[in-house]
Amino acid sequence: METYLITGGAGFIGSNLTNYLVKEHKVVVIDDLSMGQQENLKPSANLTFIKGDVTDRKLMKEIITTNEFDYIFHLAAIASVADSVERPVETHQVNFESVLMLLELAKEHQKNMKRLVFSSSAAVYGDEPTLPKTEESVIRPLTPYAIDKFAAERFVLTYSKLYNVPTSAVRFFNVFGPNQNPKSPYSGVISILVDQFKRRLRDEETLFSVYGDGKQSRDFIYVDDVVQALLLVSKSMISLGEVYNVGTGNETDLNELIMMISEILEVELLVSYEKARVGDIPKSLADITKLKSINFKSNYSVKEGLENYLKNI
Ligand code: UD1
Repeated sequence: METYLITGGAGFIGSNLTNYLVKEHKVVVIDDLSMGQQENLKPSANLTFIKGDVTDRKLMKEIITTNEFDYIFHLAAIASVADSVERPVETHQVNFESVLMLLELAKEHQKNMKRLVFSSSAAVYGDEPTLPKTEESVIRPLTPYAIDKFAAERFVLTYSKLYNVPTSAVRFFNVFGPNQNPKSPYSGVISILVDQFKRRLRDEETLFSVYGDGKQSRDFIYVDDVVQALLLVSKSMISLGEVYNVGTGNETDLNELIMMISEILEVELLVSYEKARVGDIPKSLADITKLKSINFKSNYSVKEGLENYLKNI
């Protein structure tokens, strides 16, 4: 039995990872429940839940000095790009400062830790149009969120080289699946769509806004595949000090997505085509050669991921 710290463990990706790990391991979750929800976590004797903020130095120090962690997954973030544009100083505290603080604490107090994995984002690539993105592609962060993710990612990987803190990082593409919060207009499009389809199934009135012509495409990856990727990155020896794209290497456009969900649930969704969003990129696609080199194999196409997700809505 190993011991894990998962920051943001009640959030979307964090809760899926936690629910998987608690079956066999001890997991400590810290989450301020700003986006996450405690209901996302399955009750377990192996789980310790701490409601708190990753920028709270006193609390973080207490957690790090009173436990010996085998693995730390830093998934806590203010994951909204729009929010980072509105409140760059506040989001910087969470998306950057907390990472540096955690690295320092791990350096001082977690001498036996096997790996710290940091969650970065495909947002670091910005709008440079060359596709697919490899980890060596041009980096062009365009928002406070993307800049913080990139800077934090570099700090994380550099701690491995400079101070022998074992670290790795991942750049998530468009992750979907259970426990993703659909509440904001800037939530992942699949969570918003599923929410709207659910309303349709209850015969409520809905109108889904497609921003643009619906031909924009993304590399959508099902959260179970992301859990697999996170564990592979944390366990591999060659991933030490390295960053990995986490996607599937396949693209799906928004119109296709709406059709797939419609077919699975056997209900139509009313759609209105609106002006494209400012800053929206037409396409995003990961090259996952590097992730495959540590034995990643996607188990879900977008359709299979959707089927699995929609079984339980
Ligand atoms: C994702 C991030 C975004 C980041 C970008 C850069 C999320 C939720 N979004 O955006 O913050 O800047 O990566 O890598 O993680 N759409 C609609 N109707 C809706 C919602 C979305 O048409 O109600 C469209 C969007 O305009 C976009 C597409 O669906 O073209 C996908 O949207 P989204 O899920 O937000 O993902 P990204 O645009 O990739």
